[in-house]
Amino acid sequence: MTKLWGGRFTKTAEEWVDAFGASIGFDQALVMEDIQGSLAHVTMLGKCGILSTDETNQIKVGLETLREKAKAGELEFSVQNEDIHLNLEKFLIDEIGPVGGKLHTGRSRNDQVATDMHLYLRNETKEIMAAVRNVQQALLNQASAHVETLIPGYTHLQRAQPVSFAHHLMAYFWMLERDYSRYEDSLKRVNVSPLGAGALAGTTFPIDRAYSAELLGFDGIYENSLDAVSDRDFIVEFLSAASLTMMHLSRLCEELILWSSQEFQFIEMDDAFATGSSIMPQKKNPDMAELIRGKTGRVYGGLFSLLTTLKGLPLAYNKDMQEDKEGMFDAVHTVKGSLKIFAGMIDTMDVRTEVMEKAVHNDFSNATELADYLASKGLPFREAHEVVGKLVLTAINKGVFLLGLSYEDYKQAHELFDKDIYDVLEPKTVVARRNSAGGTGFDQVRLALKKAEDILNVTAGT
Ligand code: ARG
Repeated sequence: MTKLWGGRFTKTAEEWVDAFGASIGFDQALVMEDIQGSLAHVTMLGKCGILSTDETNQIKVGLETLREKAKAGELEFSVQNEDIHLNLEKFLIDEIGPVGGKLHTGRSRNDQVATDMHLYLRNETKEIMAAVRNVQQALLNQASAHVETLIPGYTHLQRAQPVSFAHHLMAYFWMLERDYSRYEDSLKRVNVSPLGAGALAGTTFPIDRAYSAELLGFDGIYENSLDAVSDRDFIVEFLSAASLTMMHLSRLCEELILWSSQEFQFIEMDDAFATGSSIMPQKKNPDMAELIRGKTGRVYGGLFSLLTTLKGLPLAYNKDMQEDKEGMFDAVHTVKGSLKIFAGMIDTMDVRTEVMEKAVHNDFSNATELADYLASKGLPFREAHEVVGKLVLTAINKGVFLLGLSYEDYKQAHELFDKDIYDVLEPKTVVARRNSAGGTGFDQVRLALKKAEDILNVTAGT
């Protein structure tokens, strides 16, 4: 089979060599973007008088036909035609005859593929942003139902201070909010047109880059043709934002896995997101949470792979850059899939408030409160810390928690203690009083929920 670029070749490559160099196996995912880009390009060629109206129309009709066939899954791509661009050009020529060969006037596969990638990532980034919003909504729903549900807060995975379960969940809402704004910001750089940069140097044809950019909904054009065809920063940015999203999901997955274990029993995963064991009948495994945690690695892999591919490349296009695609496609699918599963997991999980309640009553996580109590009565905090440390030891020796010590124990430990310490030590009071900005105090949590709701409403309204 002769190649579209076969003119200067006297020998054809062997099939297995062609297969190694071909990208059609994966870049066929860009079929719609490639057609969209070509339609804009040919419309521009027509407007600038580079192609006649008749030629322009024939090519447009041909491209529309290909679009319908692609939708119906009727295009049979071939490895011989290397990539999506050459496959479509061949189909076009088969469809409308030699005039189809005029589509490639004033453009190169280098600006073409870059255009496709920009279009693809623009769509997918928007979808991912919507998926992030859904997870935020799920977190907000659960949080709203659990403002006064208390859970031990941890540092070093040791019980530290009790917190509102809503506050804990909302920490993830804000992580995802940063993710959302990273995607949003990256769109500024995604939404720029490389089309018309040609192979690397621009073109002799009197093209109108601003016009084709406008047709494609881009905000502007790359200023430099060399940069336009060799820039993959926008994909690196996407992969980096996606890596952070996966890291955030993975951390909450880890917590969901811990919480649903026999040791914690704070939540129960819905059956829809858990699986059984083929040998141990009692088991219910949080598979989906584990899988998302596990998939985080491949998204990081995509980021590192692309950064490594790019680091030594001279300007402008190099075939190495074909390696930009699979990692990106994989990251898109992984992040989108993970976010979708995640929203479902959060929505349906059963929160075992009675177990959490018991947990916060059966530990020393109210000890800081005692130290604060003494400090607020004028004792230097460092001394208060020492007094309470000794009280904890007394309690441990007596086999009780702080609420189980007698008033005499307290009086003996320090004269500043009064009868109201028993109220102060109640986990609900402990939490309620942490009312500093961004703290777990119920008033603060309610304020945060309101802010979060406003943020989601703004997106919903746009
Ligand atoms: N399949 C190629 C890629 O994905 C398209 C660009 C090819 N350009 C070239 N000069 N060989 O990078």
